[in-house]
Formats: sequence, C-alpha cells, structure tokens
Amino acid sequence: MAASQQISKTIYLGPFVHSKSLQELEICKNGAIGVDENGKIAFVERDTTPLNVLEQQQGWKDAKIVRIQDNGFFFPGFIDTHIHASQYPNAGIFGKSTLLDWLNTYTFPLEGSLSDLPIARKVYNRVVSRTLSHGTTTASYYATVHVPATNLLADICLAKGQRALVGRVCMNQMSPEYYRDESIPEAVKASRECIAHCSSIDPTGSIIRPVITPRFAPSCSADCLRALGDLHQETSVYAQTHISENKPEIQLVKELFPESKHYTDVYDRAGLLTGKMILAHAVHLSQEERDLIKQRETKISHCPASNTALTSGCAPVRELLDQGITIGLGTDVSGGFSPSILEMARQAIWVSRYRAMTDGDQAKLSTEEVLYLATRGGAEVVGLEDKVGGFDVGKEWDAQMISLGEVDDEGAAAAGVESIDSVDVFGWESWENRVAKWVYGGDDRNTVAVWVKGRLVHKTERYSP
Ligand code: GUN
Ligand code: FE
Repeated sequence: MAASQQISKTIYLGPFVHSKSLQELEICKNGAIGVDENGKIAFVERDTTPLNVLEQQQGWKDAKIVRIQDNGFFFPGFIDTHIHASQYPNAGIFGKSTLLDWLNTYTFPLEGSLSDLPIARKVYNRVVSRTLSHGTTTASYYATVHVPATNLLADICLAKGQRALVGRVCMNQMSPEYYRDESIPEAVKASRECIAHCSSIDPTGSIIRPVITPRFAPSCSADCLRALGDLHQETSVYAQTHISENKPEIQLVKELFPESKHYTDVYDRAGLLTGKMILAHAVHLSQEERDLIKQRETKISHCPASNTALTSGCAPVRELLDQGITIGLGTDVSGGFSPSILEMARQAIWVSRYRAMTDGDQAKLSTEEVLYLATRGGAEVVGLEDKVGGFDVGKEWDAQMISLGEVDDEGAAAAGVESIDSVDVFGWESWENRVAKWVYGGDDRNTVAVWVKGRLVHKTERYSP
C-alpha cells in the first residue's frame, strides 16, 4: 500500500493525544495538525475550528482533510523496541519453558527453518502487516542468521511502509550446528552484507536502518563480540542484544566469561556498551551494572509479557527510570505472546503492580508513564527521537487514528452486543477516562488507520475520512 503512494498536504482534524513528558499526557480536544508532502508536521493548532485553520494557514486551502470519527483521537505510532520477526509463528507457544530450554525447544528450530525463503516471506509478510495493524509504526527487529531472509525482511518493511531497524542475528556458539555462524569472519561479513543491503534500498535510512545484532553473550564468543563491537564503532550502526533476562542465563555468562566483572561488563569490554546499543530485558542488573549503563547512555527495552511468560522476573522499571535510564517497550515476540505495544503498555502496568504488592507503591507505573515508554521513550531508544514519538512541528507523521466507537444507544444494546468495538463508550466519560478505557480495554479493532511519514500504511473497513 505504501511504496507507491503520493502524499498530499493533509490536515488531520479532531482530538489528539500524545505525551508531553513521562508523567503528563496532552489531550487536545480540537486539534488541527498539518502534514506536508514530505510527511512532516508543519503546524499543530489547538482549540481551533476547521474554518479558522484554512483561513490562517497560508497555502493550505486545498489541503486534504482527514477527520477523526466515532469518539476517536490521533495518537503517535507505537515503537516496538525489541521483536523477533522470525519467531512470530510461535507467538503464544511456550508451554512452561524458561529461557534456555525455550531457545532449544521452540526457537532455534523455527528460526533455522527461515533459511527457506518462501517460509521467510510468509512469516515476514504476516508479522509486518500484523504489527502495523496494532499501530506499530517503528520496530527494532531480530531476523535470523540468514542473509537473504534478513534482507527480505528489510524489503518487506520498506514495501509495506513500516519504519524498521533490521538485524541479522549473529551467533557462533551454543546453538545447533545447522543454525549458527561458521566463523567470526563469516559473521562479520554476513552482517556487513545486511548493512549494505539496507543502505542500498534506503540510502538515507529514512524508513529502513540496519542494526548489528549479537544474539546474547552466551551465543557469541568474546572474540565474536569484540569483532561486532569493532563493526559497531567503525560503522556507527545501531546494535541490539539481550541482557540479564533470567538467572540461569546470568550464571552461564559468569562461567563463559570469567574475566568479566558482570554481564554488562561483557558487552562493555567488546565495545558494544554505547549510546547506540539497545539492551532487551535488564531484569536482574546489579546497581553497579545500572550505573555503568547510565554512564554509557545505553538504552533499555522493557519486555513485560516475555518476562512473565518465560518467568524470567519483574524488571525494576521504576528504579531504572529514577536513575534516568532511557527505556522503551518491546513485545519480544515470541518470548512475548502478543505483537501489540498497547498490550505491552498494559503488561508493564500489571508487572509494576505485582512489584508494588511486595516492594511498595512507588513501583507502580501510571497510564501516562507507559504511554510515554510506548512512544517518546521508544523513539529515544532507537535513536529516532528527532523524527517520531509525538506531534511536534518538524517531526514526521507517524500516527494512529484511534476510534472508540459510537456512543452506545439503546438500539445497539437491545440488539445484543455484536459490536465491532472492544470498549463501550457511554458519552459521559472524561477524555482522561476515555484514554484509560482504551489502554485497559482496547485492541487493534480501535486502530482504524495508521500512517508512517505521512503515508497511509494500514486501514480497516471503518476508516472513512
Ligand atoms: N536470549 C537469547 N535469545 C533470545 C530470544 O530469542 N528471546 C529472548 N527473549 N531472549 C533471548
Ligand atoms: Fe528477545
């Protein structure tokens, strides 16, 4: 849908909601956001009328108008800071496993099967369409070790118009022989090929960017990590990996890297602990490790659904935030069972409340805070904070049109609940409460349209601007 679309100057009319800060949402009831032919936000008007906008904004008289419908609002596109595109067929399939046996039982066999390009095409088309339908406008993807399949994922994201960081998985040990890098030079060469492919299809990185992806410390020898750290330093390409997810994994890292002080030090020694590194999980870090992460300005992806599903633990998000560490949300499909960042926002709230039951009320995350992590926080994690995450002049229009449905009337209620809406709005709710109803009860049925850089990349049948 996206690749061939011409963008015309458009004014998005109606309520909009976005984060002002970690604690504060801006809810504007009469908004008008002008988006130019390059997909950039040219103006943001508050408390205005459509007529006033057209009269006051020079050169916008012939602009297209897109109006909010059915108790809706515009919201920034979600940012998934950690998702394994290759594992999407296993979403929901994990039994009672924990990380290390889950990898061997479920994950490596599935990822290995994506050496077959028709299988990879099927999986990647599905996961990109599905995440777009849930409002994910940017995703930081793990693919597999395979170069052609990884490049195909980049092609598919570009064609469908989803902003993506695309990572070829590097691993030279502790996986089946059929699924690993043959040598360190091979791993580096293959990674360079994927970086080059991303540059060839999107030279300015406007939609697609590569990401250097050592799977996690146990999958890579110290020399392999060092080689990837060198590549990271040489190219300035972003990097992503996992850290301190599960206790047996941490023990394994201790045994495999006896020269390192702790897990974080393994990446630091390799030159990978930088401001352009995304660390997924960070559940069991010591204070010394958090201090080092803060000092290096390294980013963290919080993956609450996965941490619960694989019983890895409850990440101390409040403490990490209080320390000033930058955090976003990750679905971590298929350690996580859902491709939805809205669901992750909810899960992050739940996990924080379980922590509050034992550690005190300050652990609780608010609706405002998790929506910040899902948008502006995520943007900072993936290095796109100048482009996306909120509705500011100069940023690009990565947005979702949320519709909460028509105010329920007696007729609909009498006819039985056959609604295509997932929440019921009665009409008397405050705007704050409407947003809360969406966060706690909403899903992809409420996401009626999605844009990336001004391009319409997903719409449902209800979209009628
Ligand atoms: N650690 C190493 N590989 C993986 C993975 O695929 N998923 C998760 N959640 N953790 C990992
Ligand atoms: Fe993961």
